[in-house]
Amino acid sequence: MSRIFVYYSDTGNGDAVASYLKDKGFAVRKVIPKKPLAKSFFWKILQGGFLAGIGAKSPLNGFDPDVSAFDEVVIGSPIWNGRLACPINTVLEQTDLSEKKLTFLLYSGSGAAPQAESKIQSQFQSAAVLHLKQPLDNPAELTKLAAL
Ligand SMILES: Cc1cc2nc3c(=O)[nH]c(=O)nc-3n(C[C@H](O)[C@H](O)[C@H](O)COP(=O)(O)O)c2cc1C
Repeated sequence: MSRIFVYYSDTGNGDAVASYLKDKGFAVRKVIPKKPLAKSFFWKILQGGFLAGIGAKSPLNGFDPDVSAFDEVVIGSPIWNGRLACPINTVLEQTDLSEKKLTFLLYSGSGAAPQAESKIQSQFQSAAVLHLKQPLDNPAELTKLAAL
């Protein structure tokens, strides 16, 4: 079965997940926003938190939405203000995920994101959702991915 991990990462947690999944044989596609988040932590939280709160979609650099070659798609997103990160909102808008086995990996400071999870479940009824608490600092969190 061919599988792809499509993800965004600003500070490396998503990259830690990508590296783990690559070793398990996943293709990996990282999305890059045209405009990166602010560098300072304060502005980053303010900007990213506000934009995620209104469900904004970040324009992406050279994103290839074609996943037709894959049976299974795993989407990775940091949690911003309890929601999916804006670059992933764009991925979900541009990618045809019908007919795919779908899993969401949500990485966050708290390891929980009920708001994002209920939005995913209203949009993709059969998708699985896994939460990881800062996998870059807590590599043991990656063992949750053994089920994939
Ligand atoms: C703008 C912004 C908002 C965030 N909001 C939340 C939040 O609501 N809940 C939470 O648990 N973590 C929150 N975080 C922490 C990130 O979700 C967490 O550090 C995640 O692992 C980052 O993934 P990355 O390193 O791949 O970018 C926020 C981080 C940023 C930058």
